[in-house]
Parts: sequence; C-alpha cells; structure tokens
Amino acid sequence: MTDPLIKQFEHAGQGQVFRFWEALTPEEQSSLLEEAREIDLEDITDLYKSLVLANQGDHKDFSNLEPATYISHPINGGDSAAWAEARSIGESALRNGSVAAFVVAGGQGTRLGYNKPKGLFPVTPLKEKSLFQVFAEKILGAQNTFGAIIPWFIMTSHVNHQDTVDFFEKNNHFGLHADQVHFFRQGRMPAIDNDGKILLSSKHSIAMSPNGHGGSLRALVRSGATQIMEGIGIEILSYFQVDNPLIKVIDPSFIGFHIQSESGMSSKMIPKAYADEKMGVFCNQNGKTVVIEYSDLPEEQTQATDEAGNLKFISGSIAIHMISRDFVKQMGSGDASAPSLPFHRANKKIPTVNDQGSPVKPKESNGVKLEMFVFDALPFSDKTIVVETQRSTDFSPVKNAEGLESPKSSKEDQMKEFASWLQAIGQEVPTDEKGVPVQSLEVSPLFGYDAQSFEKSWNELDEKPDLSQTTYLE
Ligand code: UTP
Repeated sequence: MTDPLIKQFEHAGQGQVFRFWEALTPEEQSSLLEEAREIDLEDITDLYKSLVLANQGDHKDFSNLEPATYISHPINGGDSAAWAEARSIGESALRNGSVAAFVVAGGQGTRLGYNKPKGLFPVTPLKEKSLFQVFAEKILGAQNTFGAIIPWFIMTSHVNHQDTVDFFEKNNHFGLHADQVHFFRQGRMPAIDNDGKILLSSKHSIAMSPNGHGGSLRALVRSGATQIMEGIGIEILSYFQVDNPLIKVIDPSFIGFHIQSESGMSSKMIPKAYADEKMGVFCNQNGKTVVIEYSDLPEEQTQATDEAGNLKFISGSIAIHMISRDFVKQMGSGDASAPSLPFHRANKKIPTVNDQGSPVKPKESNGVKLEMFVFDALPFSDKTIVVETQRSTDFSPVKNAEGLESPKSSKEDQMKEFASWLQAIGQEVPTDEKGVPVQSLEVSPLFGYDAQSFEKSWNELDEKPDLSQTTYLE
C-alpha cells in the first residue's frame, strides 16, 4: 500500500521525490519518508509562486524610506558621556552574568570553498587559530575581566553539527567549561529547481539546506536554548556571525545601550564607505527599523547625499545584534499568532541526481534555496536602536577565498587592529603604507580582546617585546 505521505507529494506535483522508491532498501525508504515529513508542501508551493514565478521579494515595498537614526560613535561626534554611561551599564550586566554570546554557524560557506564547518577555518595571522578558537578566547578574556561565566550558544546545521561538536571536544572547548557551550541545530528547507520541484541530493535523500540565519529565533526556542537561558538568568544574547574574527564578541557599550533603550533587538552599523558598497542599509519605514538589501535599495536612495555631500542612507548593516530573550520567545514560539519571518530566494548550484539516480554537480545555478534573514525581525521589535561602530574594530569577515573579505584581507585587518592598540599606548609599530605591520603581529584574546584589556596586560608585562620582530603576545 502506498504511504499516504507519498500520495500527498504526488498530489502536490512533487511525486519525483519518490521516483526511486522501488529501488530503495527499507532503511532508505524510511529515512526518505522522515525527511519528507519535515516539509510543508503548501509553504513550498506558495514560496515558489511568490519568489520564483512572480519574482517577488518579500520586502518589495520601498515607499516612505527614511535613513534610520543611530547613536553616533564618539569619534564621529557622539556623546562621550552617554557612551561611558552605556559602558558602565553593560559592564554591570556582564558582572551579573546576564549576557550570553550567540554565534550563527549553520551556513554552508560556499563562497569560501572550505570543506569543513567555517568555524574551523584557520584565520589568525601568525598562529592560524580557527575562528571558533578566536571567539572562545575572546569570551574567556571577557570572563576574566568581569568575573562571571559568559555562556555561549552555537547554532549549527544538520550538515555541520557533528563536526562542530567534535572539534570543540577535541580541543577541550578551548579552555571554556564544556557545560557553558550549548550547541543546537537550526531548521532546514528543501531546495527546489526552477520549476518548483523539490530536488533530491541522492536517490533516497532530499536536498535539504539550512533555513537561513533567520531560522535562529525559532531554533533557539525549539531546541530549548531559551529555557536554558531562563534557568541560568541570561536576559540578552550578543549575536554575531561565524566568519568575522574582528568582532567584539562582548561589547559593554553596545550591551548598555541595548539595556538602556529597553529594545527587543538592537543592531550595530558602520558608515558605508561609498554609495554602491554591497551592504544592507538600515532604514526607517513608517516608524519601524528595517534593513533593505543593497540590491533592493532604490538607486535614488542609494546615491542620495545631504548638503555636506555625505551619503544619506549611510548605515551599513554588519550583522551584529543584541537580542533580548523575551524578544526571541515572542518571535520564535511557533504559535500561530507569532510573527513569521519572510523567506528570501538564493539561486544556487545544488548538487542533485539525474533520472538514472547518478550524481550531478551543476556548473550553473539549477535551483533555489529558501532562507530567512535575522534582520527581518527588527520591525517586529517595539523598540529598536542602531549603534555606530568602527569597521576597524568590529568587522572584517572571511567570505571569499580571495580579494575582498578574504583570509588575506582579514589577517591584515586583524594586524592593523593589534597595531592600533599598541600605537594608542605610545608604542611604535613599523607598518606599510596601508597601516599593516611589516612584521607579523598577533595578540591572543587572552592577553587583550579590546584596547582596554590589551593596555592592562601590556602594563603588567615585565619585559616588553621587540616590535620590529614577529611578535605574538599571549
Ligand atoms: P552567509 O550569508 O555568509 O552564508 O552567512 P554562508 O552560507 O555561510 O556562506 P555562502 O553564502 O554559502 O558563501 C552569514 C552567517 O550566517 C550563518 C553563517 O554561518 C554565517 O555565520 N548562517 C547562514 C547560518 O547560521 N545559517 C544559515 O542557514 C545561513
């Protein structure tokens, strides 16, 4: 007798998912059925119609866009006293143990072309520490400063979960307690071809891919992470992406501004370097903060300048947020009344099988992945603030194998930041014309994870290193 689920798929025009059914072993049949059970066929049909057939985005209303207001950094005229106050509020929250770090590490990192989870990628200029090690040591460094445990939530995907957990175990969690590191998997969605048909990745499995970093809110609730947070008194998540070694994993001022404003979700911005920089832009639309992707921001707004010639829509989004636990629960409860984030389409080369069941590795995009973006949660927050930061202290992601946002550019930016900490305390560091130290320079986050903690450790050094040589400070 045909399984009712297979009938449902046939009825929805998705019978191809089971086209090798007769040739499968009983185990293969049951694992295929299990995957198929995860799929909401109605959703897939609707998304195909709206995102592929009608080629609509989900945020195609570009009326009434204004530049988002933001809290300026002191170097750009921001109120230093307000920043100092925010810093002290953030530091108290850290001392009270109410802040956790949260990294989204479920992506597939196809642009970088690394065949392991991206967090394992060696990223530092001298010691080649992995991204995960850098974050772990930044957390450890901050814990030492504030004298409280900073739990770390790590979102993985079905593709990289086990490799990620194994890596942490093999490395003794880089000095963190195993029980302060909480791994959980995000949800997934089937990839579809350009005719809306669900693709197989083998005769007995569906081409499932992670459902985007926007899937993190639902996954935090569904996995029980929010319950863990409640149990240990965590009120705020410091959200960041796995590809950015420059990130201030723990930034007391940003935490403080978030608490002070009673915001559900807050974001950091950097001023865009030029009008066409490929960066989402914070805008205000009908009283709500939204991020408009660079490809969607109308040309008029992209190029608009004020009287002084500065870009009007200048607030570039760098995917760094503070998110309150209550807001996560509101967004991720899964209740019918909970707001749902829209899906976006990404055209991709999706490995699949041909009609004989042999693997096919397409050279051109052959289908669409469906992803949610976390910044689409912003307009659902009653209060939202955007805080300016500096690119040089917070943002240098590793996205591509070469060129912009590559391992090379990120290593240079890390060294520039280390040099800036030394220069700020009057040390000479020989640099090239771009400001990159001539000799390799690396600072362990356990020595200094920001300018303040660096200065403290430097002052405690009995013997200062010779900075004209390759230097590692640990
Ligand atoms: P990217 O947009 O860079 O996507 O993710 P990606 O999948 O890692 O890389 P490409 O596009 O294939 O090259 C930004 C951040 O969001 C996370 C990533 O791990 C990264 O930290 N992410 C992305 C998830 O956690 N889940 C997803 O489904 C997608």
